Amino acid sequence: MRQKLAAGNWKMNGTGAALSEISTLAALTPAPKSEILICPPSPLIHRAADISAASAIQIGGQDCHAAHAGAHTGDVSAEMLLDAGARYVILGHSERRTDYGETDAVVRDKTEAAIDAGLTAIVCVGETLDQREGGATLDIIAGQLAGSVPAGVTGETLVIAYEPVWAIGTGLVPSLGQIGEVHDFMREKLEARFGAEIGDAIRLLYGGSVKGSNAANIFAVSNVDGALVGGASLKAADFAPIIQAL
Ligand code: G3H
Repeated sequence: MRQKLAAGNWKMNGTGAALSEISTLAALTPAPKSEILICPPSPLIHRAADISAASAIQIGGQDCHAAHAGAHTGDVSAEMLLDAGARYVILGHSERRTDYGETDAVVRDKTEAAIDAGLTAIVCVGETLDQREGGATLDIIAGQLAGSVPAGVTGETLVIAYEPVWAIGTGLVPSLGQIGEVHDFMREKLEARFGAEIGDAIRLLYGGSVKGSNAANIFAVSNVDGALVGGASLKAADFAPIIQAL
């Protein structure tokens, strides 16, 4: 039985003042049935981990370098995230694939580094609108999964987030049928590659304009094990109903 996961990605939003949202969220979601994760910007991770320590909320990073240490100015290693209190890291988000040209191979190397360090990697995949309209969605997802996910993963070390690029921050959401088609397809691909037991244990999140008002319907779709939430994770009052819908 896969444990549901509600993951909030704050992206490049929030300074220290935003950390009060974590304690508010903890108060709004006592004894949650699902796992709750907040991924704040790197400078806030340590303080976020301290604040969340007494609650069920876990903390994650939004990226890490593929190397364990070295001359990489401005970068953060997976070990540093772990040391700061993170337990998860988002990798291969479409914003990083676009802004920094991260390829599947780069994402795979980062995922290996994260898992080596003891973090659970949330690897993001998703098609653009052109790709969807061109009928290429499943091919794109298959390619990103094959290229971005390293060998040797398990249900404890890997989570996949399906985020259609055109649904991120736009208010547009695929139909429930479209979400189900991709999630069922990803489950088949993971089972084919890693075997039924591991393939079935890897959690599959949907991400892209998830809100309190659409979360329950999305979570009812087969093989949707939770959500990766951007804008609606910034305020506890917006994120709590999504957690409660799981
Ligand atoms: O990582 C989160 C996603 O990019 C979704 O963002 O919920 O603001 O659409 P959004």
